[in-house]
Amino acid sequence: MGSKTVVNNYGSFDVTFTHGQGSTCYDVNGKKYIDFLAGIAVNALGHNYEPLVKAIQDQAAKQIHICNYFVSDVGVEFAQELLKATGFEGVYFGNSGGEGNEAAIKLARKYGYLNGGEKRRVIYTLESSFHGRTMATLTATGQEKFHPACFAPYVEGFKTIKPNDWEAIKTAFDDTTAALLIECVQGEGGVNLIDPEWAKAAAKAARDAGAIVMADEVQTGFGRTGVLLASDELGFEPDVVSFAKGVAGGVPMGGILFRGKANEVFKAGDHQSTFAGNPLACAAGLVVLKELQKPSFLDSVKEKGEYIRKEIASWKCESLGEIRGKGLMIGVDVVDPKSALELEKKLLENGLLTSTAGRNTLRMVPPLNISYEEIDEGLKILKKTLENF
Ligand SMILES: Cc1ncc(COP(=O)(O)O)c(C=O)c1O
Repeated sequence: MGSKTVVNNYGSFDVTFTHGQGSTCYDVNGKKYIDFLAGIAVNALGHNYEPLVKAIQDQAAKQIHICNYFVSDVGVEFAQELLKATGFEGVYFGNSGGEGNEAAIKLARKYGYLNGGEKRRVIYTLESSFHGRTMATLTATGQEKFHPACFAPYVEGFKTIKPNDWEAIKTAFDDTTAALLIECVQGEGGVNLIDPEWAKAAAKAARDAGAIVMADEVQTGFGRTGVLLASDELGFEPDVVSFAKGVAGGVPMGGILFRGKANEVFKAGDHQSTFAGNPLACAAGLVVLKELQKPSFLDSVKEKGEYIRKEIASWKCESLGEIRGKGLMIGVDVVDPKSALELEKKLLENGLLTSTAGRNTLRMVPPLNISYEEIDEGLKILKKTLENF
């Protein structure tokens, strides 16, 4: 029904959802689905989570929008809490991951300009990365399939290096490099992990050449990998972090955190957005952040991720290959000639929401507070589906 009326840019499945509870969703026919997708890593606290719903309702009754000529009480509070929790010095609010990365790209370009003039403009990203669908973030994306001729010309000043390639970082960066942007776990590229030692060495090489270092945490940020920011665990201490997806539990919100050299770059007028820092999103963000900071919440994300990966591995299923991931960001390769997309479709039919990613991979990114009962129910559907796949 829905996919015939809303613009079909997405190749959406013909299922129309009405509501959800916890990590369970229901369609117009009352059919039940276990949610191992969370709106692509967005519904961090699942559906109809009471404190989140209440905060949004209360904020809606107070003020939905005020615009950035002013600040809102809840916007200031969220910014303060974010900086306290992450150790960053500044935050720019946007509305999506693409916008967060656009802000990061603009910051990097201006940083390069201030520290090397016209020459220092190049932003390095990693092969197989994904950074968004706007023209600059699409260009930054390190996958050729996202650069079809129909959208050319692309934006100048982007280069890629291969992740975990030690030779590449010896020579890549020089006085033309403004920034290195690392997607901490490559979600769209196939749930590919970055070696922390390599990330640290790449960041050092970029910094030695005078560049800043940025992390794309649009998907990995805010608890997805079992830590507040995945870059903390990788240890490369980015100057800028872009975020979005789970940060406000489903209300559109994105942006960047910055510190050190990167904190000096943006001045009034450099970058703006009408909806940015919207009080409704900030009220939602406060609830998510508070939840993530509860003792053992993040550890439980790690434990649930390990539980899922171990359980799938124990099936020794011939249709499945490597199982990768961190926390509740899980990728399972489907062995050719079987297709991850076909598996995703069958799972949907059988009542489990998942998605696919780069390397013929089934991607699972459930709500961070999914219960073990729902995990077991979802795994049962996956196992049964694989038996007839
Ligand atoms: C790592 C990463 N960066 C950027 C984006 C773009 O975010 P959005 O779709 O909110 O613009 C995504 C979306 O999937 C992402 O996974």
